Amino acid sequence: MTANENINTLLLKLTESFDSSTLIKLTLSNKRNKTGEVNNVFIKPVMIKGQAMLSFVYRYATKDMTKNFGIEQAKEQIEDQLKESFFNADLFTSKADYALLSNKKGNSKLLKKAATSTELPLYRHDNIKKRLINPENNVYLRELGIVTAEWKVRSDMQDKFKQINHYVELVDDVLKTAKLPENYLIADMGSGKGYLTFALFDHLKNTTPLPFRMIGVELRPALVNSCNEIAVASGFETLSFVPGSIKEATIPEINVLIALHACDTATDEAIYRGISAKAEVIMVAPCCHKQIRKQINPENALGEITRHGIFEERQAETLTDTLRALIMEAFGYKTNVIEFIATEHTPKNVMITAVKKADTTIADPLVLKRIEALKTMFGIKYHHLEKLLGI
Ligand SMILES: C[S@@+](CC[C@H](N)C(=O)[O-])C[C@H]1O[C@@H](n2cnc3c(N)ncnc32)[C@H](O)[C@@H]1O
Repeated sequence: MTANENINTLLLKLTESFDSSTLIKLTLSNKRNKTGEVNNVFIKPVMIKGQAMLSFVYRYATKDMTKNFGIEQAKEQIEDQLKESFFNADLFTSKADYALLSNKKGNSKLLKKAATSTELPLYRHDNIKKRLINPENNVYLRELGIVTAEWKVRSDMQDKFKQINHYVELVDDVLKTAKLPENYLIADMGSGKGYLTFALFDHLKNTTPLPFRMIGVELRPALVNSCNEIAVASGFETLSFVPGSIKEATIPEINVLIALHACDTATDEAIYRGISAKAEVIMVAPCCHKQIRKQINPENALGEITRHGIFEERQAETLTDTLRALIMEAFGYKTNVIEFIATEHTPKNVMITAVKKADTTIADPLVLKRIEALKTMFGIKYHHLEKLLGI
């Protein structure tokens, strides 16, 4: 085995033990360069905000420095350290120990030994905050590549799985505040590969007594077909996907409308359908705010802000979504803007939630006045959602 192959095998053993919660610790030692400042690195699994990570303690002559990494970044760090700073590594797991020994001449060997300790570390994946979605025996998670054939969340899908769970929690919280009829319909507009659609369906099916149906609307027929196949394979009888546009797809009366990252004006089309159907709940996580950006042209001090491209983009986002929220308010919705996903996962992190409070089809003139005032301030002629609603 070459030195690189041994490092790769060691990293594989590290990942396996991390994924199966049998990792105890990993130590890097025997400096390649005797003048190097870090004498050793001690790595152990930790839980940070409910997420399994690896904590690195860099031991200097007079101090220790700690840094935490997710498994993928941790592996990159370890690989770099073994190639540049240390000859040896000792991996301790509750199943076996591994010792990587290398030297200046480029010789390297990886020894497997009986486990020194079989005592499991305090950290365990099962200690992770109880997730709403159970990875076990959930066919759609396997078909979508989130879990392995053994129902373990793939190491490169940990973030996605966390995001899905967070999303389900958010939607669930909002649905609890709404009055929904029996057999209510949730429309997921621009459902894409269906990650979030399946997860929400799965959660509601397992936790709510009220019968419901769910339809995903998606422009791309290939995605519609694969999602329908997965829905059948999962035994999700009241979940289906239809091809078509958000604005025009023929679907029954909508009670809950969801649109996540439907680009630019597709989000307006989704809100328009929700308002037109008098949906009890509308939840959108917008992305790409081009329509308003093209129009922003304030003839006042605000021009100082929008003359900078980045600020103009941020203003366009804030304005587009503020106007969306106001328009929903004009039609009797109580709105709320929340952070959907932590910004380290995606910059598209805002979600507007709207719950119907007044049974009206006519826009409130007082709210329309507030909308006009805001538009005038920024030199905006029209918002696409206004055009769709004819206001
Ligand atoms: C960024 S993806 C998001 C997918 C999914 N909602 C999610 O959050 O994982 C947006 C999806 O919306 C679809 N889409 C965009 N505009 C649409 C429209 N006007 N009608 C239907 N689907 C649309 C795209 O094909 C794409 O699959």
